[in-house]
Amino acid sequence: MNKAIFLLVSVSISMFAEDGASIYAQNCQNCHGDDGKKAALNKAAPIAGWDKAKTIEALNGYKDGSRNTTGLGKIMTPKVKTLTDEQISAVSEYIATLK
Ligand code: HEC
Repeated sequence: MNKAIFLLVSVSISMFAEDGASIYAQNCQNCHGDDGKKAALNKAAPIAGWDKAKTIEALNGYKDGSRNTTGLGKIMTPKVKTLTDEQISAVSEYIATLK
């Protein structure tokens, strides 16, 4: 692979990861814990290591108000409503890396 393209790809991948981590730290960590293992408000299942697609599906469900697994779906809605598709994708990618 061309060296310049390789560098560009590596840089954008690391920026993407960082973005997901900061979105998580600012919007999610309080309830879901440092590493996604906390049961949010003693209700939600721990989300650490969830498959990216599964997290995206859940977050979009909260965004449009259709998901509600423990009766607290309305708590999640405002947390994801302001996130763009790109931000939802980035934070879901980050959650998949949590062990
Ligand atoms: C105010 C506390 C709070 C914050 C902040 C919060 N959540 Fe949640 N989260 C919850 C609760 C409570 C539920 C369970 C909702 C329900 O009944 O469906 C939940 C559910 C989830 C689920 C589905 C879990 C399951 O068991 O189905 C995912 C994934 C999730 N949250 C991710 C996030 C992400 C990503 C963020 C940040 C953008 C975030 N949450 C911010 C409280 C919070």
